[in-house]
Amino acid sequence: MSPFLQAAIEIAREAGAILRADHERPKEIVYKGEVDLVTESDRRSEELVVSRLRQRFPDHAIIAEEGSGQESAGAKYCWHVDPLDGTTNFAHGYPCFAVSLGLLEDGEPIVGAVLNPVYDELFTAARGEGAFLNNKPIHVSPVNTLSQSLVATGFPTHHRKKSANINYYWEFTLRSHGVRRDGAAALDLCAVACGRFDGFWEFGLKSWDTAAGTILVREAGGMVTDMEGNPYQPGGRVCVSSNGKIHGEMREIIAHVAEQVAQA
Ligand code: IPD
Ligand code: CA
Ligand code: CA
Repeated sequence: MSPFLQAAIEIAREAGAILRADHERPKEIVYKGEVDLVTESDRRSEELVVSRLRQRFPDHAIIAEEGSGQESAGAKYCWHVDPLDGTTNFAHGYPCFAVSLGLLEDGEPIVGAVLNPVYDELFTAARGEGAFLNNKPIHVSPVNTLSQSLVATGFPTHHRKKSANINYYWEFTLRSHGVRRDGAAALDLCAVACGRFDGFWEFGLKSWDTAAGTILVREAGGMVTDMEGNPYQPGGRVCVSSNGKIHGEMREIIAHVAEQVAQA
């Protein structure tokens, strides 16, 4: 196994133990924005992850959501860390949240580990080595058409009123078996990787939301692109992910709705 993946797994497990324990306790919520929540657990998890990564890989850069990462000018390797993806779920006791660690080499996702500590589901992938859920290989779904698909999306917590995603949500709802909105983008991508969802799209995600999930989907045989079909770069404006088979249909719908939104 890639030593980077091995490290990511060990660190995700340690951080996951913090989240699992805190999940049972009353939470103190602070607002970063109108509905952008942060808890003490986001910070505690991030502190653990960042300190472990620093110890093990002092020359790697780290970008972590709560801001405690480390710059490393011109670093070949950069970790993108979401210490708690799905904070709103966590704060409400909805057990759909994760710690997510993704490693980019020269801007390219090469390693990902995403752990849901409540369900004890660990999703892992390294470039060229496949994708796994609790050590068992996973693959994207074999579904051929959007009309037979279950897809997912998410909505931003910042500038909510500027988001046009409800229009996309509506169109996808009419053209598929349904659209889920589960509130943890890293896990949404993992769900595509293991075939629970056939596709996922979202606007405005940050690199820490998607770095790990991107390599998971790709190693599971799926696609993650931008609107034009170019390989998605974590942090890009839109993330379109699928089993590959419904990717063209998804992109067509996104382009079609984008046109309608622009004319409105
Ligand atoms: C959020 C979740 C959510 C997505 C938001 C993200 P956070 O991350 O991934 O599913 O819709 O855009 O900001 O704030 O819970 O780490
Ligand atoms: Ca997140
Ligand atoms: Ca987060």
